[in-house]
Amino acid sequence: MANVTVIGGQWGDEGKGKIVDWLASRADLVVRFQGGHNAGHTLVIDGQTYKLSLLPSGIVRGTLSVIGNGVVLDPWALKAEVGKLAAQGVAVTPETLRIADNCPLILPIHRDLDALREDASGQGKIGTTRRGIGPAYEDKVGRRAIRVCDLAHLGGLGPQLDRLCAHHDALRAGFGEPPVDRARLEAELGEIAEFVLQFAGPVWKTLNEARQQGRRILFEGAQGVLLDVDHGTYPFVTSSNTIAGTAAGGTGLGPSAAGFVLGIVKAYTTRVGSGPFPTELDDAIGQRLGERGHEFGTVTGRKRRCGWFDAVLVRQSMAVSGVTGIALTKLDVLDGLDEIRICTGYTLGAQTLDHFPSHPGDQAAVEPIYETMRGWSESTAGARSWAQLPAQAIKYIRRIEELIACPVALVSTSPEREDTILVRDPFAG
Ligand code: IMP
Repeated sequence: MANVTVIGGQWGDEGKGKIVDWLASRADLVVRFQGGHNAGHTLVIDGQTYKLSLLPSGIVRGTLSVIGNGVVLDPWALKAEVGKLAAQGVAVTPETLRIADNCPLILPIHRDLDALREDASGQGKIGTTRRGIGPAYEDKVGRRAIRVCDLAHLGGLGPQLDRLCAHHDALRAGFGEPPVDRARLEAELGEIAEFVLQFAGPVWKTLNEARQQGRRILFEGAQGVLLDVDHGTYPFVTSSNTIAGTAAGGTGLGPSAAGFVLGIVKAYTTRVGSGPFPTELDDAIGQRLGERGHEFGTVTGRKRRCGWFDAVLVRQSMAVSGVTGIALTKLDVLDGLDEIRICTGYTLGAQTLDHFPSHPGDQAAVEPIYETMRGWSESTAGARSWAQLPAQAIKYIRRIEELIACPVALVSTSPEREDTILVRDPFAG
C-alpha cells in the first residue's frame, strides 16, 4: 500500500488543507514531521470550519494522528488547540493522538526571544509568526532543549535548566531583559506535564509497526519548500526542513516510507513575511489576486504578497523535494484575466538563469523573464472534469506541467472537496 507525503511547493499557503483532508479521510494515520504551530490548516467538514495549527489534519475525523520528533511542540498551544476542538465536539484522546517523546518543546522563553529579535531587527525582520519556532530549533541543535520525555523526569532537570537558562540569560541581557524566571518556568512545566505525557511515546515504533501492517500513512508537511532552511530563500525562511525528505528523519521511518510525494502548488504565487519574491505584483492585478484568493494568513491574519506563477521556483522546489505529482490549486482566482504571465527564467545583470540562485543579494536582484498567455473569461470554479474547463485554462495547466517538469495529479477548483479534477490517485501509487 502506498503512503503519501504532502508538501507545499511554494512559500506555504498553497491550499494544503482541503487536499490533506481528502487524503486524511482515506489514510490510517496522519503524521506531522516538521514545523510547529506556525502552520495554519483550515478544514471544512460537513459545513463546520476547523482551524488547526499544530495537530495533524486527521484529528478531526478521529484518524490516528501523530506528531513526530521533527516537530517543535508548544505544550500550551497544544492544550489550547485541544480545548478549541473539544468545544467544537472533537475529542482528542491518547487513542487518536500520539506525540513523539523525543520531540523538543517550545517554551515561553522561545516566544520571548522570537519577538525580541523581530522587534529589534528593523528592516532585517524575517516576519516570523512569533511562535518561538526558530529559537526552539536552535536549542534543539544546540543540545539544550527540554523534550517531551523530560516532562516525566522534572525532578532531574536541574543541570539541563542551568544550561538552558545560562544561554537565554545572556541573550536576554543583550536586549536589556531580565533573566529567565526559572521558578516560574519550572512551575509551568510541572503544571502542563501530565497533559502532554498522556499522548507521549516512542512513535517511531508505532509508525514502523503500522508500516509493517500495510497501513496507509499520510505525512502532512507544513509551510513550503521555499521556506526550507536549506533550500529556501535563506535567511527569510522557517527553521525546519520543509522538503519531503524530512518525513523520514522527522518521524523515525526510513526514506522509502515517503511514497507518493504530492506537491501542492498554487496557480499563482503568494508569500507572507519578508524576503525576495521575483514575480511580486505591486499593482491592480496583485491586488485582485489577493482579493479573489482571500490571501490573508490563517495564523497571523497578515495580508499575503501576490504575484504571477514562477515556474523556475516551482521546478526547483519539485526537484529538491522529489515530487511525484502536483495538486494545482486556486485556478479559479485567475478567471477573467485577459492575459496571464508565467515566469520561465531570470536575468541577473547580463546573465540568464534557469534556476534560483542561492545568494540573497542575487535572489533579490533577479528579474523575471515572462511568457504571456491569453487568459479565459469563463469560470473554472467548481469544475470537476477537464471537459468543464475552458481550453485556455487547460493550456495554462499543460504549460505549467511542462515548465516545472512534473505532472498534475489533481486540480482543485474550489474549497469544496468535490470540486476537484482527479488525474492520478496518490494513494494508488
Ligand atoms: P517562523 O516559522 O515563525 O520562524 O517564520 C519564518 C517565516 O516563515 C516567515 O516568513 C513566516 O511568515 C513564514 N511561515 C511560517 N509558517 C508559515 C505557514 O504556515 N505559511 C506561510 N508562511 C509561513
